[in-house]
Amino acid sequence: MKIAIGNDHGGVALKQHLVRYLEEKGFEVVNFGSDVTESTDYPIYAERVGRAVASGECDRGILICGTGIGISISANKIHGVRCALCSEPVSARLSREHNDANIVAMGARTIGPAMAEAIVDVFLTTGFDGGRHQRRVDKIMMLDRGESVQ
Ligand code: RB5
Repeated sequence: MKIAIGNDHGGVALKQHLVRYLEEKGFEVVNFGSDVTESTDYPIYAERVGRAVASGECDRGILICGTGIGISISANKIHGVRCALCSEPVSARLSREHNDANIVAMGARTIGPAMAEAIVDVFLTTGFDGGRHQRRVDKIMMLDRGESVQ
C-alpha cells in the first residue's frame, strides 16, 4: 500500500516519526512535505496529498497540522477526498468502515506519537463495510460533484 503524507510546520516531528514507523512496517510512503519548521500554510499540503489520493497515485493519505482541523477542512475541498479528523482509533476504524475515508488527519498539538501510531494502524488496515454505508458514501460523492441529495 502506497501512503501519501503531508503536514504544515506544526506537524513536522510527528510526520517524521510516522514515516519511520510506517516504512519499518513495510509501507511505501510518499512525503509531500513540509520538512522544515518555518511557518507555512496547511492548504498547500492538503492539496498535494488530496490530489495524490484522489488521482489513485497513492492508496491512502495522512495529514497533520497543529489541530488537524485546517488541514482536514482543506483536504475535503479536493474532489474525491473523504478526509476524517481522528484523535483516537475508534473514530479511525469507523471512518473506514462507514465513510470509506481515504485520508486521515491528526493534530500534532492534540495527540502524541503513540496515539498517532494506533490511529494509522487502524486506518490503514480496516476495510469499508459497504451495504447501507455505500448508499451514504454515494450521496457524499454527489455533494462532492455539486449535486443535490434531497
Ligand atoms: C498553524 O499555526 C495552525 O493554525 C495549524 O497548524 C492548524 O492547527 C490549523 O488548523
